[in-house]
Amino acid sequence: MDLSTTYLGLKLSNPFIAGPSPLTGRLDALKRMEDAGMGAIVLPPLFEEQLQTAEMDLFQAIDTPAESFPEALTYFAEPEHAIVDVEGYMTHLADLKKHVRVPVIGSINAVTRDGWTDYAKLMEGAGVDALELDFYFVGNDASRTGGEIEGRFVDALTAVKGCVQIPVSVKVTPFHTSLAHFARSLENAGADGIVLFHRFYEPDIDIENLEPVSRLKLSDSRELPLRLRWLAIVSAKAACSLAASGGVHSVEDVVKAIMTGAHCVQLASALLKNGVEHVTSLREGLAAWLDRNEYESVRQMRGTMNIEHIPEPGAFSRAHYMHLVGSWGS
Ligand SMILES: Cc1cc2nc3c(=O)[nH]c(=O)nc-3n(C[C@H](O)[C@H](O)[C@H](O)COP(=O)(O)O)c2cc1C
Repeated sequence: MDLSTTYLGLKLSNPFIAGPSPLTGRLDALKRMEDAGMGAIVLPPLFEEQLQTAEMDLFQAIDTPAESFPEALTYFAEPEHAIVDVEGYMTHLADLKKHVRVPVIGSINAVTRDGWTDYAKLMEGAGVDALELDFYFVGNDASRTGGEIEGRFVDALTAVKGCVQIPVSVKVTPFHTSLAHFARSLENAGADGIVLFHRFYEPDIDIENLEPVSRLKLSDSRELPLRLRWLAIVSAKAACSLAASGGVHSVEDVVKAIMTGAHCVQLASALLKNGVEHVTSLREGLAAWLDRNEYESVRQMRGTMNIEHIPEPGAFSRAHYMHLVGSWGS
């Protein structure tokens, strides 16, 4: 069975990519993933705020406060993940890259324009095959419009595209008012791929001690339909690569993501729950499923259920809602 796919212009033997998680920063885990047949690997991001930088130029002009970015980043910036010097990180990265044969994608989560571009160049120099810009953001500033926030992401992407030769993808969250438009803007700014979606880590509150509680829960397949809707919509128009990230656990999940338009699926929780060897059973299960259902390849199946190819495109939008609420109880 031909499981091959092309993602960001890279030829992958299959559509399985290890999404950034603590696993992908460890050489032993990377080697096991490769042995288990992973198609590509995204390294954990380089967080600008975790690094000792000489100077942090603000993202934009001084009167456009950039503090929301650091606020958003603190979700991930835990001390145990801190790598304190850029050089050390790049050496680590070059070393990882040397030891694996599958494509390695470097991930960046920066605060300032210089942060995005400097680390992009350094990562390219360290040998990664492509970049993933991690656009994780919590829009908590009531004075800033959605357009401004999206404009800053597009700006960061444009700056990175202007200074590296390798392909660049962006990982976005689902919380944009006009996601289809945002996806188009990213593509127009040169995005080679879009990862749908980042998973927000929602803090809970402790009502006895009156404090927020952050606990990282792994996903399950219930998170997938949000991705399916937007893959089905975005893939109908986008020419760039698309990756599903979030809630991909079973063979059926993989089939759904590809049918709605994903070129590949990123796995994080599924690997953390079941071990990296889980990719072997997914890969074999996907091949068997395609065979049983008379597909010749992953490519043949891709996008067959996006909104251009299904008889009722409304199923992914408002009509679906009207139908569902109307049918409750019947
Ligand atoms: C423990 C853990 C750490 C993660 N760290 C990062 C990260 O540093 N950067 C990032 O872009 N995504 C990170 N993710 C998000 C995953 O890459 C992925 O987008 C998300 O978990 C949804 O995919 P899943 O349902 O397969 O877990 C992390 C996920 C987990 C579970």
